Amino acid sequence: MRMTVIGTGYVGTVHAACMAAMGHEVLGIDVDADRIASLAAGRAPIREAGLDELLARTVKSGRLRFSTSLAEGAAFARTHFVCVGTPQRPDGEAADLRCVDAVTDELARHLRPGSLVVGKSTVPVGTAARLGRRIAAVVPDAEVAWNPEFLREGSAVQDSMRPERIVVGVTSAHAESVLRTLYTPLLRAGAVFFSTDTATAELVKVAANSFLATKISFINAMAEVCDAAGADVTVLAAAVGADSRIGELFLEPGLGFGGSCFPKDIRAFAARAEEIGAGEAVAFLHEVDRINTRQRERTVSRARRLVGGSFADRRVAVLGASFKPGSDDVRDSPSLAVAASVAREGATVRVHDPQALDNARAALPDPTYTLDIPKACEQADLVLHLTPWPEYQQIDPRALVPVVRHPVLLDARNSLDARPWRAAGWSLHALGDPTGGTS
Ligand code: UDX
Repeated sequence: MRMTVIGTGYVGTVHAACMAAMGHEVLGIDVDADRIASLAAGRAPIREAGLDELLARTVKSGRLRFSTSLAEGAAFARTHFVCVGTPQRPDGEAADLRCVDAVTDELARHLRPGSLVVGKSTVPVGTAARLGRRIAAVVPDAEVAWNPEFLREGSAVQDSMRPERIVVGVTSAHAESVLRTLYTPLLRAGAVFFSTDTATAELVKVAANSFLATKISFINAMAEVCDAAGADVTVLAAAVGADSRIGELFLEPGLGFGGSCFPKDIRAFAARAEEIGAGEAVAFLHEVDRINTRQRERTVSRARRLVGGSFADRRVAVLGASFKPGSDDVRDSPSLAVAASVAREGATVRVHDPQALDNARAALPDPTYTLDIPKACEQADLVLHLTPWPEYQQIDPRALVPVVRHPVLLDARNSLDARPWRAAGWSLHALGDPTGGTS
């Protein structure tokens, strides 16, 4: 089948490449001419496992092409996926829908009769219906459907090629049948297909992200209680998660969530719920957000105590800059937020990250950045483990002892094996460990 994918950011690039890999003919469209030129040459704008190979293969086969013209897109296909960004508004917590609206309006000017516009962006509930009315005013028999994506950064290709579920919100049997046909290979591979109205489809995405964010904040709240009680949140999380009704995933205590989705999605959801008179129902999301932000503050104050009460004249090594391992993304990265606070309070900060240094440097110019772990730790009074990259599990703690000024480590992700560190003479601390906030 033929389709366009409008917006070649994270979601759009991955979706376009995966659809082409499934055998469809895809035209990727973006207003950014440089980005389109490099995509057409088979170069991905983001680092994502398997994406470069997939792009190169599908571009070479001719099934994936790129353009900057929506008019060309409208002539090329009758199915259009809208994958443009919906960031947090600069003036509040709601989602900024300017890109989605602009693309839909421009597309409507060129659409052929009977076209299907499928939104993939995360939007406030009611957006599809609103856009549907806007398009219908210009092209009477065009339809707007919604098909949220659930991909995670770092495993976006895998998540797109082997999704657990596909959710489509439609207003006609025709749209359902188009989307079902288009996703046939994924359904054959075992994805569960949910066809529903557009409002429900829009809500599934934000409800899923809210649940996951709540799970993380729940275990972080328990970490605070553990600190107060002298209990061990790591054992608690494992024992609580062993109940299959709860499950062990997304119960990793520590510095909390960041990235381009969770923080903005829960804020936008709360703002939208308020608008439609259901604010009270999701008021807990404000608390989820507050608990999450507090983990950054707790990490900074714990670190401050560990260096003797003030960061002035202290050297702090930061391990990890990206918002999570396996990604070079530093958007709303809890690690960089902590690094920034510590630097603001007077510490000399050196940051190590295996992949995100360029992005980190652009977002936060002050610290020194290095690809060398011992260099980051040179003469450090404190080492902060903030993004749990697998390489940090491989560190030989003995080799780092002569490098630092004081062998003190705060594992804000509660994921390093304490035994070798302590055996090597390190004073090792975590959030919600039995040594409490007083050590
Ligand atoms: C998330 C959703 O998982 C995905 O379905 C949605 O489409 C987009 O948002 P992503 O932002 O890539 O994906 O990251 P994810 O792997 O879900 O992690 C989010 C954040 O939570 C990270 O900062 C991670 O470090 C943190 N996290 C995760 C925890 O702090 N504890 C956990 O137990 C799990």
